[in-house]
Amino acid sequence: MGHDGAGEFRSKISGIGSYLPEKILTNFDLEKMVDTNNDWIIERTGIKHRHIAKDGEGVSDLGYHAAQKALKMANLTAQDIDMIIVCTVSGDQVMPSTACVLQSKLGCRNIFSFDLSAACSGFVYGLSVADQFIRTGMYKHVLVVGGEVLHPFVNYEDRETCILFGDAAGAWIVSRAEKEYPNVIMSSHLHADGNLGDLFVLPAGGSKIPFSAEVLANKTQYVKMKGREIFKNAVRTMTDCCHEALNANGVKPHEVDWLVPHQANLRILESVASHFEFPTEKVVVSLHETGNTSAASIPVAFDMAFQEGKIKRGQLILLAAFGAGLTSGSLLLRF
Ligand code: ACO
Repeated sequence: MGHDGAGEFRSKISGIGSYLPEKILTNFDLEKMVDTNNDWIIERTGIKHRHIAKDGEGVSDLGYHAAQKALKMANLTAQDIDMIIVCTVSGDQVMPSTACVLQSKLGCRNIFSFDLSAACSGFVYGLSVADQFIRTGMYKHVLVVGGEVLHPFVNYEDRETCILFGDAAGAWIVSRAEKEYPNVIMSSHLHADGNLGDLFVLPAGGSKIPFSAEVLANKTQYVKMKGREIFKNAVRTMTDCCHEALNANGVKPHEVDWLVPHQANLRILESVASHFEFPTEKVVVSLHETGNTSAASIPVAFDMAFQEGKIKRGQLILLAAFGAGLTSGSLLLRF
């Protein structure tokens, strides 16, 4: 799916924010838990540490802090928000949705709120949905949260997965832009290839394999992945997504100020940059401090680069995502 957006209204990003839980899990901590070591993890992934939510802290709690920061930057209150999308695969519970919990926590009006499940591509999917509601003129301010508390779904006896993931949340307020305002979402392109769904799965806990003693014995309540296959697909798909976004807008790679890709693995990002013929110094990287935080990874990386003064207002920025599903997508915006 793609659009180049000839609608009457356009979307601007009026506020952004992110939140990382206080507790840090270092590579040295992991050395004590599984047969791994700091050098291997840094060399193969680039990750130094990741943040882990405390017991009882869910996606709505992390998302609340990120949303408050985004609202402050946008100079808006929770009452101004017309719609909430929480992009997550690790919501507080199955029902009600984390978006409804967040709506109540923030003190919003009785507004349209739902969770969106697209794994690591969730935030780009969510931004695209928000953009559609702004473009039709239906809403003025949409809160999009990418949040994950992944650690309960990670097997800390499986060295291939437990080194990768962390918890975090990021939030953007997508707002109706004033006429002729130049800093808007220019395009989004979303994809999914369900045929490759078995590369990264969390088998149990749904309607097909409900919780049971067997689930716990087989450890199917934890994520399972085919790392090398994911790696190859991530590079190919994110490179294609980058080309698709630029081709749709007639933009050349050198015109893009920053590429903010899903933060899966440093080698994946370097490989995408090389295939896309894009300078690595213009690729935003935060995974050394966060690990892979799935739907939170793009807004968290973006906010960290903004706080550091790298990303600035008015710059041309390309988001590229890839995740379980397999889902993927891109979004080009002038920030
Ligand atoms: N510590 C030490 N050794 C390890 C570890 C570890 N934590 N994990 C695996 N190894 C070993 C393997 O057992 C293997 O040993 P062997 O050669 O004796 O068989 C060796 O290291 C090499 O294993 P590979 O799987 O070839 O290592 P690779 O360089 O591919 O790195 C990794 C593995 C980091 C998982 C990589 O494939 C990757 O990042 N894949 C993408 C995963 C991903 O992003 N998943 C997220 C889900 S989707 C998404 O977010 C986009």
